[in-house]
Amino acid sequence: MDYKILGNTQSVQQAAGRLTITTAEATALITVYSPTVIRVNITRNVQDADASFAVIREPLGQIEHQETDTEVIVTTDALTLRISKDPLRFAFYTPDGKLLSKDDERFGTSWQNSRVINHRELNPDERFIGLGEKVGDLNRRASSFTNWNTDASDHTPKTDPLYETFPFFIGIHSGLTYGLFLDNTHKSYFDFAASCDDQFIWLGADDGDLNYYFFGAQTVPGIIEDLTWLTGRMEMPPLWSLGYQQCRWSYMSANEVLDVASKFREHNVPADVMYCDIDYMEGFKIFTWNQETFADPKAFIDKLKAMNFKLVTIVDPGIKVEKGYQQYDEGVEKGYFATYPNGENYIGEVWPGRCHFPDFFREDVREWWGAAFTALTDPGVEGFWNDMNEPAVWNQNIPWIVKFGDKFMPEVRNVYGMMMAKATYDGTRKILGNKRPFVLTRAAYTGTQRFSAVWTGDNTATDEHLLLGARLVNSLGVSGMAFVGVDIGGFSGNPTPEMMVRWNSLGVFTPMYRNHSIKDSDYREPWQYGEQNLELIRHSIEQRYRLLPYLYSLFYETTLTGMPVCRTLAIDHPHDAAIYYKDYQDQFMFGPGLLVAPVISTVTTAKVYLPCGDWYRFGSDERYTGGQEHTVDAPLSDMPVFAKAGAIIPMQNVIQSTQDAGDGVLTLHVWSGNDMTDLVYYEDDGHTYNYQQGQKHVRTITFDPAAGKLILTAAEGSFTSRFHTLEVTLHGFDAGRSVQPVNYVNDEIVIDL
Ligand code: GLC
Repeated sequence: MDYKILGNTQSVQQAAGRLTITTAEATALITVYSPTVIRVNITRNVQDADASFAVIREPLGQIEHQETDTEVIVTTDALTLRISKDPLRFAFYTPDGKLLSKDDERFGTSWQNSRVINHRELNPDERFIGLGEKVGDLNRRASSFTNWNTDASDHTPKTDPLYETFPFFIGIHSGLTYGLFLDNTHKSYFDFAASCDDQFIWLGADDGDLNYYFFGAQTVPGIIEDLTWLTGRMEMPPLWSLGYQQCRWSYMSANEVLDVASKFREHNVPADVMYCDIDYMEGFKIFTWNQETFADPKAFIDKLKAMNFKLVTIVDPGIKVEKGYQQYDEGVEKGYFATYPNGENYIGEVWPGRCHFPDFFREDVREWWGAAFTALTDPGVEGFWNDMNEPAVWNQNIPWIVKFGDKFMPEVRNVYGMMMAKATYDGTRKILGNKRPFVLTRAAYTGTQRFSAVWTGDNTATDEHLLLGARLVNSLGVSGMAFVGVDIGGFSGNPTPEMMVRWNSLGVFTPMYRNHSIKDSDYREPWQYGEQNLELIRHSIEQRYRLLPYLYSLFYETTLTGMPVCRTLAIDHPHDAAIYYKDYQDQFMFGPGLLVAPVISTVTTAKVYLPCGDWYRFGSDERYTGGQEHTVDAPLSDMPVFAKAGAIIPMQNVIQSTQDAGDGVLTLHVWSGNDMTDLVYYEDDGHTYNYQQGQKHVRTITFDPAAGKLILTAAEGSFTSRFHTLEVTLHGFDAGRSVQPVNYVNDEIVIDL
């Protein structure tokens, strides 16, 4: 095998804000995107060095640097990049000279044939978080991972890779933080000193450039903000998609879907969404409806709408090879499918049998795909579930010579799902006019957050998966993807009633809350587990609906800063060793105010770690001192959740669907605390893009304990709130203290506590 090293510097040039450094082997291109974001692209192919599916920003166009005989030094207000010339090595520092991260001095960057590898120094106390949908511990140190989007059905809590690629991590050491995003879509590798005597970490890819963005913000939220500035943020999701979602592979007929929907209403279990999995189609042909079992889709969806339900239908990329099927005929005629190098359409087998695969890397193909959604939107579908888009084929091995556009499969596999989600989003966005489509995808690459939510694929009905799910959601959150769900109850297998109850308690605090299960599994709806468990599950789902004003406000924050809804404790407490312990690593903050400690279904007490500060059990208001571990009750009826001292949680009454008006009372729950806290409260119409034209209702709610006041700034935006009355519920304050309800008005509201 050919081994090449980057070698010594031959030339250094600056033009148009870009620094170009050459060696005998490669060219390093250095650009500055913002004071905290510097890109280093070490390439052997300068012509192609700029393409990206993920990045939506341009470099600043200027770069401040100095050159000496031995070094080139690039400076911004927030970072110093010292580039040593011989051999060519890169080292990032804070402006006051603290080392953040640097190349390993011995091995730096090298190639083995087409493989590119970067070795980086490991700091003794360094921890790593991120990489999106990856199993394993919160701290990635001593583990290694591969990015290769895979249909990982039957995965275990140890399986790698899964379905998605987020080649981004955050390094935490010596009280410092930094981030690194390797924007390379080939099969890629991250090794956090798994097997090298703690000598270095390394990252690399089978081909392509060592093309990375280095983030120098000195907080984890700052790094997430920069990552999502660079690669985009989500839009406001439709409010209905934050309600409870009921899925199954499959409800076999329109009547069955309607029957399940009506049972939610009969049992008074709030819900917003029903799903159709693959069996709604004719022979699994995408954009068709089964003529017998879903004979009149419009009448069917109208009935769902009358019960205040939305419908989400699945679409897979595989187009059945069958003459006379519109998508097949059109795709063949226009040459829209992935091909072999000789131009023959590639055939792989998946649900419909032999299939062709749309080449989503071409704009004309994406437009064609997007326009076909009228088959679903005309009768009234507003949610589009993109599955099997790794892309999956039976036996999982698409030949390497298959071409998408001008690229071979190995180069673009990791972004195929993202491009399908983009085509789906762009198309349905256009068709639905001003309505927000809901797109859900299984495969993804960094940047997918601009188009779609994700779920974590085919998990299993075990407690281990319940905990793994929380970690996956949290890891995706720090990697830029905030809108995430897991199959509540576990896709494969059948959960025990206790597990189902527990998993629902966790579902409340998951960005997307969807119950889903495999074909032939036991029915999984909330009423399948007896009256007592129904009550517990109903209670959880009701809690979700109560929390929607808070949750919706959290998503608004995500649209502004990328801050995820579910926040591993490493976001706010990256240097607190305890949060990484196995017992505590699944814990997370649900927004700034609530700490959630997931607990398995077979125990009724749990050890939790509360970071420094005061905490109150959500529900009972029992007070706990932070900075230590506690053993707490964890009955099935009350998974441990804690409100942070000073938390402000806006809640509403229980409604059966987000389309219900509710009673018009917004209740601010406030927990006692000594420090000033605030929360940005947000409302809009929940289903259009008018908020982007200012039809929103935004105000900052501040709790000022010293002044004994709760202050709501005057509302900004032209949307009229759904609420007419404001109530305040105090927690942890002196007994007997209470606040009278006031009118909920747009002007500033000041409440004495
Ligand atoms: C895949 C999906 C699963 C879906 C099934 C049938 O396994 O991950 O969610 O139910 O295909 O469409």
